Parts: sequence; C-alpha cells; structure tokens
Amino acid sequence: MMELQNKVALVTGGAKGIGLASAECMAKQGAAVMIVDLSIEALEVAQAHLKEYAGQIDAMEADIVHRADTERAVHNAVKKFGGLDILVNNAGIQTFGDPITTTEEIWDRTMNVNLKGHWLMSKAAIPEMLKRGSGAIVNISSVQGLASQRNVVAYATSKHAMIGLTRSMAVDLASQHIRVNCVCPGTVNTPMIHSIIEMDSNPERLKTILNKMHPLGRIADPEEIGEVVAFLASDRASFMTGSVVTVDGGLTVPIAGSPE
Ligand SMILES: NC(=O)c1ccc[n+]([C@@H]2O[C@H](COP(=O)([O-])OP(=O)(O)OC[C@H]3O[C@@H](n4cnc5c(N)ncnc54)[C@H](O)[C@@H]3O)[C@@H](O)[C@H]2O)c1
Repeated sequence: MMELQNKVALVTGGAKGIGLASAECMAKQGAAVMIVDLSIEALEVAQAHLKEYAGQIDAMEADIVHRADTERAVHNAVKKFGGLDILVNNAGIQTFGDPITTTEEIWDRTMNVNLKGHWLMSKAAIPEMLKRGSGAIVNISSVQGLASQRNVVAYATSKHAMIGLTRSMAVDLASQHIRVNCVCPGTVNTPMIHSIIEMDSNPERLKTILNKMHPLGRIADPEEIGEVVAFLASDRASFMTGSVVTVDGGLTVPIAGSPE
C-alpha cells in the first residue's frame, strides 16, 4: 500500500545524502515531493534520480537561512502540488571547533543553518498544514543532539537545540493535528561524511574507526534514515509526536569503557 498517496512533502537539503534518501523513500510511498537546496546543478541531478520513482517531483534553489526563501519554497510547493502535508527539516552543515577555536562566524552560521532555518521553514509551512487540517514535521538532529564529542561545540549545541525545537513545536501544534518528531542518526554514508573522511590524515583508518564505533559494525546507508523519516511522516506514526528517534546502529547504547 502507498502510505503517502495524495500527500505533499517538502524536504530541505534534498539534493544529497539523507535529504535525497528521505525524498526517495517518500516518493516511493506515493508522495509528491519538493526538494530545496543551495545548488541548482545538484538539484537537477537529484530531481532526475527521483523521477525514476515518482512523477510528482519538483526542485527549487533556496537557502533556508533566508526567510523569503523559506516562504517562496512553501508557496511554490503549494502552487505546484495544491497544498503541503509534510516538512522534513534536514539541511545541515557540520562545523568544528572547541569553545575557544570556534569563531563567531562559525557559531552564527551553524546556528542559522542547523537551527534558525528549520524554525523559519516550519513557520512558513505550518499555516499550509493548518489549512489541510493536519501535518507532519520531521526534524533531523543527530546522536550529537543527545551526547557530544570533542571539537564540535557549535554543531552539537545546534543539534541539541533541534530536539528542543521538536518538543516545543510538538506541544504547540498537537491540538491542531500537526505531529512533530525528530530523528537522531548515527554516522551515515553521505557527502558530508565523505568530506570529513577525506580531510583526515588517514582516511582508511577513520573509516574503520567509524564502522567499529557502531555496534552493528558499519555506518548507515542514507536510505536507512529515509525509511524512518517516511514512517514518521505517515499516518502509521499517528500517535507519535515530540518523539526523539535514535537511528544509530547502537552507537549510543554501550556503557562507556565496556569490553567489546
Ligand atoms: N551524515 C551523517 O553522518 C549525519 C549524522 C547525523 C546527522 N546528520 C544530519 O543530517 C542532515 C543531512 O546530512 P547529510 O549527511 O545528508 O549532509 P550532506 O552535506 O551530504 O547534505 C546536506 C544537504 O543540505 C544542503 N544545505 C546545506 N545548507 C543549506 C541551506 N542553508 N539551505 C538549503 N540547503 C542546505 C547541502 O547543500 C546538501 O545538499 C544534516 O542536518 C546533518 O547534520 C548527518
């Protein structure tokens, strides 16, 4: 059964990685999908890929940091597909730095993309969901929204805040039948992770470490996150709101220091 037949979804950062996989999983379930991202070239490649799975795909260049772009994205999705039911707040940037080495510029950029942009997108999308009488928002946080590691002070703070945004919006919107949930992935095989691996002085060693860190013995494929996003967006998750769903191959489960 097509779980998302007659639903319209908007995915930010939809040209690559987890966003593209989420768009694909929802398109396979019958949704019309609008992907938004920074680069038109990447969007065109993604759109051509998604058209293999569904007829109703559109793409738009937008920077979620700019309110006018978020409003235009929602406007275009509604104009093209007749309404909006699902928003996947996925776009994000990984930044590095401890409290001293993090510059104000890195801090502001991280908070703007990883947090403010998702609030702006939600602010633009919610009135359209209210017109439909229901809706689902899926926010992509991270295991770094639940715990932290060295040298990611701005990133981990933004991802923790994404959980706060999820819970606050879930409480505000529940009575209007808009569910808001959050996914916390472990490491996922996407362009973001590829560039981190490439930056390392010993990429092969880092790949082995990343695989071993996850009790399942490997990092995730983007589709393994996309499937959970599509589920949370669907009516099968009808009693879930404000939930924080960890999809991390067991990464956050072992007691620190426990033997293998
Ligand atoms: N890959 C991982 O291991 C991992 C783990 C946990 C959480 N996440 C989170 O998942 C989300 C997606 O990550 P990914 O690995 O697919 O990243 P990615 O870099 O592979 O893809 C992210 C996409 O978002 C777009 N984007 C960035 N800034 C944008 C902006 N201002 N406006 C519009 N689009 C923008 C990029 O152009 C890119 O296409 C991010 O929020 C990331 O923090 C990723």
